Amino acid sequence: MKTVLFCILALLAGGAPAADDARVLAPMPPAAEANLRGEMRASLLALNEVLALVAAGQLREAAEVAERELGRSAMGKHRSQPLEARPGPHMPPAMHAIGIDGHRAASDFARVAAGGDREKTIAALPTLTAACVACHYSYRLR
Ligand code: HEC
Repeated sequence: MKTVLFCILALLAGGAPAADDARVLAPMPPAAEANLRGEMRASLLALNEVLALVAAGQLREAAEVAERELGRSAMGKHRSQPLEARPGPHMPPAMHAIGIDGHRAASDFARVAAGGDREKTIAALPTLTAACVACHYSYRLR
């Protein structure tokens, strides 16, 4: 009974990952985690903006946001900060590689969208989220 109660409390507290959670734990210092989470929220916002712009047929604007916020131009934002505040160097190499792939894919998407072809741009949309899914299904910070 005590165990059950503990589990319920842990769940309510938002802790205890499920026993069948196969994601690799990849902890990092608090400052790096805070930067990573901030960057993640900005990515989600940018993704939503890109989707809205594509839906509205504003492909060139979509290309600009994708490149600036998600593409290679968005890499190395924390380069000038101390090591403990930089997410990248604390990631296992395979995790870091997924992140870099995601930036490359967003730059590729931006090139397609900048070309102005709506069908091709829509067909390329899933490449924007592939890395988000790949990383989130493989790694966790806690
Ligand atoms: C290289 C790995 C990686 C990639 C790529 C990645 N994420 Fe994340 N993301 C994480 C990790 C790790 C967390 C923290 C998970 C945890 O709490 O354990 C996270 C958390 C988040 C959060 C929650 C932020 C918060 O405030 O706690 C959002 C939102 C998010 N990611 C969005 C995205 C989106 C959108 C993309 C793609 C454009 C993306 N992520 C790509 C690793 C990644």
